[in-house]
Amino acid sequence: MYFVANWKMFGDLRTLNSLDKVIKFSKTNKKNKFRIIYCPPSTLIRPLSKRLKKTKIEVGAQNCHHSYDFGANTGQVNSRMLKSVGAKYVIIGHSENRQLGEDDKLINLKIKSAIKSKLKVIFCIGETLGEKRKKRTNKVLAKQIYNGLKSVKNTSNIIIAYEPVWSIGTGIIPKANDLLNSISYIKSKFRKKTPKVLYGGSVNNKNIDQLKDINIIDGFLIGGASQSSKKFIDIIKKTFN
Ligand code: 13P
Repeated sequence: MYFVANWKMFGDLRTLNSLDKVIKFSKTNKKNKFRIIYCPPSTLIRPLSKRLKKTKIEVGAQNCHHSYDFGANTGQVNSRMLKSVGAKYVIIGHSENRQLGEDDKLINLKIKSAIKSKLKVIFCIGETLGEKRKKRTNKVLAKQIYNGLKSVKNTSNIIIAYEPVWSIGTGIIPKANDLLNSISYIKSKFRKKTPKVLYGGSVNNKNIDQLKDINIIDGFLIGGASQSSKKFIDIIKKTFN
């Protein structure tokens, strides 16, 4: 089971001290039942990966530029740079970035660049509320998968994160049956090797009791609640209760 913390644009060097509790907790993971990945802002990737060196907790980034080559792109960071400071994963296609204008084509280039840099990709897909109301969820998911992974031959380093846009930061999670249907549908799109599929959107230490029994889910991508070490640990503990 994956537990991925997406810190979004929160956190500074001091925030890293709060992870001591999670580091301690991660040592109870003797049988490798779970995998913890922290995706902090880019500024914290290096200090965090240093701090986590002797632990099993891994570090990821939240986005990357689409070009594998270095270049004149002010303010941007590419996949090679992220890899060189300790990132092992990168989130690509998050709806907060799609809302800023990232389209499937750009996401596809980013994914290919990340794979070239030997990063594992956490590829976010999900429908908006309007699309859900029009019962277009499966169509949207299929299109995002098809376009995002166009000419990506080896999907073994791809993890899908199903994040319905309407559930992010709203406190609302999908009905168990809808979630089961969407995740099965996503998995059905892959013939050769079925990727891990995570759920993300308002996951917290209360609603995890409803989510953990949907056993088709391979883990969670957690935003707000991941900023509290206590809540994050609680989510992991309750998943296995
Ligand atoms: P919240 O858990 O804050 O709803 O965020 C989910 C998310 O966007 C994770 O990528």
